[in-house]
Amino acid sequence: MIRKKLIAGNWKMNKTSSEAADLVSAIVAQVGKANDVDVVVCPPFTSVESVGQTLDGSSVKLGAQNMHPERNGAFTGEISAEMLRSIYVRYVILGHSERRALFGETDAFINQKVLSALKAELKPILCVGESLEEREAGSTLDVVKNQLEGGLVGVEESNATDVVIAYEPVWAIGTGKVATSEQAQEVHAFIRKLLGERFTPAIGNKVRILYGGSMKPGNAPELLAQADIDGGLIGGAALEARSFVQLVEAAQAAN
Ligand code: 13P
Repeated sequence: MIRKKLIAGNWKMNKTSSEAADLVSAIVAQVGKANDVDVVVCPPFTSVESVGQTLDGSSVKLGAQNMHPERNGAFTGEISAEMLRSIYVRYVILGHSERRALFGETDAFINQKVLSALKAELKPILCVGESLEEREAGSTLDVVKNQLEGGLVGVEESNATDVVIAYEPVWAIGTGKVATSEQAQEVHAFIRKLLGERFTPAIGNKVRILYGGSMKPGNAPELLAQADIDGGLIGGAALEARSFVQLVEAAQAAN
């Protein structure tokens, strides 16, 4: 197995601290010893630290949903990589399509975050993906290429395998419309080829590429069976322990 599968839950703006505590306890009880798959949970900032305390001693890792590229300073409402690192966060989602669309994040800004995350020894989960209009216009691969290359400017070969890419077609997020396994595999293979060109083919083969967009226990086995799909970035189905655990099990079965 060159690439260990990874299942990451993006809780988005859901769960109060006490709801987060219930969810993470149930996850730890069921998959807290899983070692054949990397499992990551990304709660909202208000419960990152407390969820991390519950994860202590388990194999489930802590992630965050965003960060600011600067180390500190007058950036009201923002959180830095160092702050996340100091509470044992290991992964950070960057460039999610909701941040791009609703908060105006550009590839250049996302790139600064990727570089700051790597410097602080956080593993960035860099999200890329086309909108419905872009897919219908036939520009999916161009959009993905620009977002990928724009997000990775200045990343050194020595850090490249710490980066995780998430392909999330915008039209599949929260809509119940999942990309077919062929549609997803086509883009994943394209991303891997680009990574091979940007770094080296060996690095391209090691970087994990997750699929995100209405991934559920019912459609996960087929997606996870594709050659270049190394796991999932899960929204809705990560908000219930039962479906999230089933997704971890699907990744274990796909090994
Ligand atoms: P859904 O699984 O709810 O479609 O969300 C996917 C996503 O945006 C994960 O980051």
